[in-house]
This record gives sequence, C-alpha cells and structure tokens, in this order.
Amino acid sequence: MSAKIIDGRKIATDIRKKVVDDVKRLKSKYGIIPNIATVKIGSDPQSDLYLSLRDKACLEVGIKSKHVELPGNVSEKKAIEEIKKLNDDGNIHGILIQFPIPKNFSQDKLVNCIGSKKDVEGFTAENMGRLMIGDESIIPCTPLAVLTILEEEKIVFEGKDVVIVNHSNVVGKPLLGLFLNRNASVSVVHVFTKDLKKYTSEAEILVSASGVPRLITGDYVKKDAFVIDVGIVKTKDGVCGDIDFESVKNKAGALTPVPGGVGPVTVACSLLNMVKTFKSCIEDVDE
Ligand SMILES: NC(=O)c1ccc[n+]([C@@H]2O[C@H](COP(=O)([O-])OP(=O)(O)OC[C@H]3O[C@@H](n4cnc5c(N)ncnc54)[C@H](OP(=O)(O)O)[C@@H]3O)[C@@H](O)[C@H]2O)c1
Repeated sequence: MSAKIIDGRKIATDIRKKVVDDVKRLKSKYGIIPNIATVKIGSDPQSDLYLSLRDKACLEVGIKSKHVELPGNVSEKKAIEEIKKLNDDGNIHGILIQFPIPKNFSQDKLVNCIGSKKDVEGFTAENMGRLMIGDESIIPCTPLAVLTILEEEKIVFEGKDVVIVNHSNVVGKPLLGLFLNRNASVSVVHVFTKDLKKYTSEAEILVSASGVPRLITGDYVKKDAFVIDVGIVKTKDGVCGDIDFESVKNKAGALTPVPGGVGPVTVACSLLNMVKTFKSCIEDVDE
C-alpha cells in the first residue's frame, strides 16, 4: 500500500486561520496589533526573496512587519546596538535576524542579543535551554512544524523509536528536546554516523534534514514508518528533499512531500510564534 501523503499546505492554511483569529482577538482586547522587526545585514538576493515572502505572509494575517537594513560593512557593535534598540522599543513585539549574515559576524552573539520574550525563532540560548528542560514557551519554527504535522496525524510519541538525520541548532537539537519531552526514544544521526541505514531502517518516525537530495531511499525506511522530509534542495530538475519520494512512498505509512510538506507549515509556525512573542510582550505590560 502506498503511504499517506501529508498535505502541508492544508495544515498551514488552518494555522493561518487561527493566527488571523488570534490577531483580531488581541487587537480588540489591547487595541494594538503585533509588530515584528527583521534585522538584515548586507544584501543577499535569496534573503530578499524570503523577506518579501514573510512580509506578504504577515500582511495576510494582519501582522505588521518592519526591516532594519544594515550595510554589509557595518560593525558588529553597531548591529548589536540596533538589536538592543529593538529590545527596548515597546512598539516592537518580536525580532528576527535574517540569515545568512556576513561571515565576520558571530551568529551566536547576535542571536543572543535578542530578548527572550521577543525571540520569534526561539534560537536564543535561553529559549533553547528552556526547551531542553521541558519549558516549550517558544519552539523554533521548523521543529514546531514537524511536531504540528505529527500532532495533526494524532501520532502517539511515548515509547516511539525516532531517528533525526540532522544535528544542527535549528533543526536536529531542538527536535531532540521535543521528542524527549514526549517520552520518545530518540537517535540523532549526522555525517559522522558510521552506519546511517542501521538507524533509519529501525525508525518508527524518521525526520530527515541533511540537505542531500534523495539521501533516504526505500531500503533506508522501516515499513509503515512516518517519514518527514525537512530538506529543501534546488537541483537542475527542480526543488527536492532528502527523501527519494518514489521508492519511499511504497514503504512508509505516511510521508511529507517536497514541496508542499514541512515548508509551508514552517512559515505558518513562524506566524504563530509572532503571536506568541506579542502576547508575552503585551501581557508583561498589562500586569
Ligand atoms: N522545510 C523547512 O522549512 C526548512 C527549514 C530549515 C531548513 N530546511 C532544510 O533542511 C536542510 C538542513 O538545514 P540545516 O540548516 O539544519 O542545515 P545544516 O546545518 O547543514 O545541517 C545538515 C545536517 O545534516 C547532516 N548531514 C549532512 N549530510 C549528511 C549525510 N550524508 N548523512 C547524514 N547526515 C548528513 C549534517 O551533519 P554534519 O553537521 O556533521 O555535516 C547536519 O547535521 C536543508 O536542506 C535546509 O534547506 C528546511
């Protein structure tokens, strides 16, 4: 039997409707709407594209967005000052840094200047640390998208064998925390893993985010596994993911496609996080 193909666009549409309702409700309660700032350093055509897509997504759900654009040769000190100004600005309810940033900047240093209440992406050490001890106040958008997809499908996490192919700070590490918080048994594998297939072929839930096109073929997958493809790679034949869709769809129980799977849910989860940071900023003032 062929795998159930998860419709990420449908899940994303439902999340956006919820965000629209939340924004309306918060506006009528407090008289203000969320206002999110993105800090961009230097110019990068791909970043500009992401920024304009995010602005459009914000506009559609009633969230205001502004950009702080700094030249590529700005000093790290000045960039930090700008982030701190946004932290102190009561009219800003969430902050994002647009990546990539120039190589001479410390990504960690900039991210950790964002106040934890305004940390839309959940990347600060404070919010990451909280997640690892079970306080999921703000969850990074892509791991949240993975969790949302599984929850939509009413997957029980407790006791499940989960394998994550990725150990980055943005995907693998927060996902590890999320699954552990739900009592799954988790293996995190990566480039240094000696026998990738040994792990992936035993996974009841397999999340792959290597960025290597079609790394995971049918023989790497356990029968009836729930397979989530986070990878997005542009190839000469178009966009594809980590999963070899044709061979895996005949083995897995459920599978997210690329495009149309995790990607749109991630964008919608970013809007959800904007509402969350808005609430934590406003409710702070309201007390
Ligand atoms: N759908 C979405 O919304 C979304 C969001 C974020 C990212 N992504 C996509 O997800 C992918 C990963 O993003 P990222 O930022 O986490 O990238 P990253 O930092 O490069 O992480 C890739 C991870 O995969 C591992 N890996 C690479 N090749 C492998 C292989 N052959 N076998 C086993 N493990 C391997 C890497 O291990 P090492 O570190 O040891 O090399 C690393 O842990 C990219 O395709 C990106 O475009 C999608």
